[in-house]
Amino acid sequence: MVINHAEAPVLEALAAYQNADELAFTPPGHKRARGADPRARAVLGDAVFFGDVLANGGLDDRLARNQVLVRAEQLMADAVHADHTFFSTCGSSLSVKAAMLTVACPGHKLLVGRDAHKSVVAGLILSGVAPVWVEPRWDAERSIAHPPSTEAYEKAFEEHPDADGALVTSPTPYGAAADLAGIAEVCHRRGKPLVVDEAWGAHLPFHTDLPAWAMDAGADICVTSIHKMGSGLEQGSVFHLQGDLIDPAELASRADLLDTTSPNVLIYAGIDAWRRQMVQHGHDLIGGALKLAARTREAIEAIDGMHVHDEADFCGPGLASGFDPLPVVIDISALGTTGYRAADWLREHHHIDGHLFDHRRISAQLTHADDEQTTDRLLTALRDLAGHASELHDAPRVAVPSPAELRMEQADLPRDAYFARHEKVAPRDAVGRVAAEMITPYPPGIPAVLPGERLTEPVLEYLLTGVEAGMFLPDAADQRLGTVRVVAED
Ligand SMILES: Cc1ncc(COP(=O)(O)O)c(C=O)c1O
Repeated sequence: MVINHAEAPVLEALAAYQNADELAFTPPGHKRARGADPRARAVLGDAVFFGDVLANGGLDDRLARNQVLVRAEQLMADAVHADHTFFSTCGSSLSVKAAMLTVACPGHKLLVGRDAHKSVVAGLILSGVAPVWVEPRWDAERSIAHPPSTEAYEKAFEEHPDADGALVTSPTPYGAAADLAGIAEVCHRRGKPLVVDEAWGAHLPFHTDLPAWAMDAGADICVTSIHKMGSGLEQGSVFHLQGDLIDPAELASRADLLDTTSPNVLIYAGIDAWRRQMVQHGHDLIGGALKLAARTREAIEAIDGMHVHDEADFCGPGLASGFDPLPVVIDISALGTTGYRAADWLREHHHIDGHLFDHRRISAQLTHADDEQTTDRLLTALRDLAGHASELHDAPRVAVPSPAELRMEQADLPRDAYFARHEKVAPRDAVGRVAAEMITPYPPGIPAVLPGERLTEPVLEYLLTGVEAGMFLPDAADQRLGTVRVVAED
C-alpha cells in the first residue's frame, strides 16, 4: 500500500457513504437518525446518528473489498513505527486482554507489574494465567507507585525462567514512565515478548520531549487508548505489534474472541482522524501543550498549600525512568484536606472536573485541546480552593498503609479464587481470608485487592477509611464495603 498520511480512509468512506445516500435495511435500527427519539436527537445531534453505520455492508461493502479499516490500520502502524496495528472499539480494556491471551497460555506464568490496571487482572481471571507480580518502585514518602525497574523484571525472570513473557504499565496515569528499552532487552535476551500497557501514552510517538514510547523502545505489543491522551472518542483503542515473537494472525484471533461484531464506526473514525492530525500537526500541537503545561505547573506551584509533582519528584534512583508533564498531579496535603473532598468542591463551586484523586492529591490532565482559557479557569478554581481550604479540614482521614503493608500474599490463582464458591463476610472477619473479588479505587483503577490475595487488616482499613473519605470502589460487590466476597472455607 502506498502510504499517504493526508488520507483518512474511515472518514473518507463515511463521507462517501453519506454523499451516496445509501439506504440501509440493516442495523443500526435508527436508520440514520430517522427512528431515533427526537429528544435524543436534540441532545446528541444528528451527526452522531449519521456517522453510526454498519462497518461491513455499510461503510465498506460486505466483503470489505475497499479495505477501509485495513488501510486505516496500516496508516496508523506506519505513523507509530509498528509492523501491524489493530483498531478496537472496546477500549484498552479489550486490547490488553487480547495481548495477554496471545502472549501467555492458560496455566502458564506472566510477569506483571503489580501497578497494573484492573483490565489486566480481568485478563488473568479470564485466561487462567498465573501472575508473577513484579514490585513497582514505591515512593513511600509521597505514597505513590512508579513502574517496576528493569532489575525487578530481570530478577523475576531469574526466579521464573518458565514465564511466557512480561507486561509493564508505562506511563502510569500519573505520568511516570518505565525504562522500556531495558525491560524489552531483559525479555528478548530470553526470547520472550514484552507487552506494554501504554493506555496513557497515545501522544508519546509524536513529540521528542516526551518519554520514549513502546514501539521505539523495542516492545512486542503495545496497547494505547486513543481517547485518553489523544483526541479520539471514548473507547477508541489501538494495539500495535512488531517483531517476530508474536504471530499477527494469532493476536487478531485472540482479539476476535473478545471483540464486538458491531464495531462503532464513529470510534474508528476518531482513531483514524487522530492519526492524520498527529502525523500532520502533532509536533506543533503537543509542543504547544507542553509549553502550556509548563506555565500552568508554575502557576499552580505558586498557590499556597499546593505542590505540583515534577520530574525531580518522580524520577531518579529507585524511582521512575521518565516523566510526562501533561498529567498535572498536585499534592494538596498542606491544605489539610483530601483529594476526594477537593474534587467535590471544585465540581460544585467551579464546575471543574479533575481527573485523579486520592487521600492527598488531585490531578488535571492537559492535552493539546487545552489553551490559556481552559487553564485560566483551572487556576482560578485552584486558587479559590486554596482560599477555602479551612472549610474542608473536616475531610475524613484515610489510613494509608506503608508500601510493604499494601502487598498481600497471592494465595490462589486470580481465576480460581474468582470462580470459587464464595461467601460475604464483614470486613473485620475478612482478615486472613482469600479475596474472591477485585476491589479497585477508581480512578485510576489499580486494584487494591484482587482475587486470590489473602486479605490483611491494613488494606481493609485503608479501603474502609477510603470509602468514608469519598473513595469510589466500582467493582466491589458491596461498594460501601459493608461486606467483602471471600472464598468459602469448607
Ligand atoms: C493503565 C491502564 N490500562 C488500561 C486501561 C483501560 O483503558 P480503556 O478505558 O480504554 O478501556 C486504563 C484505563 O484507565 C488504564 O489506566
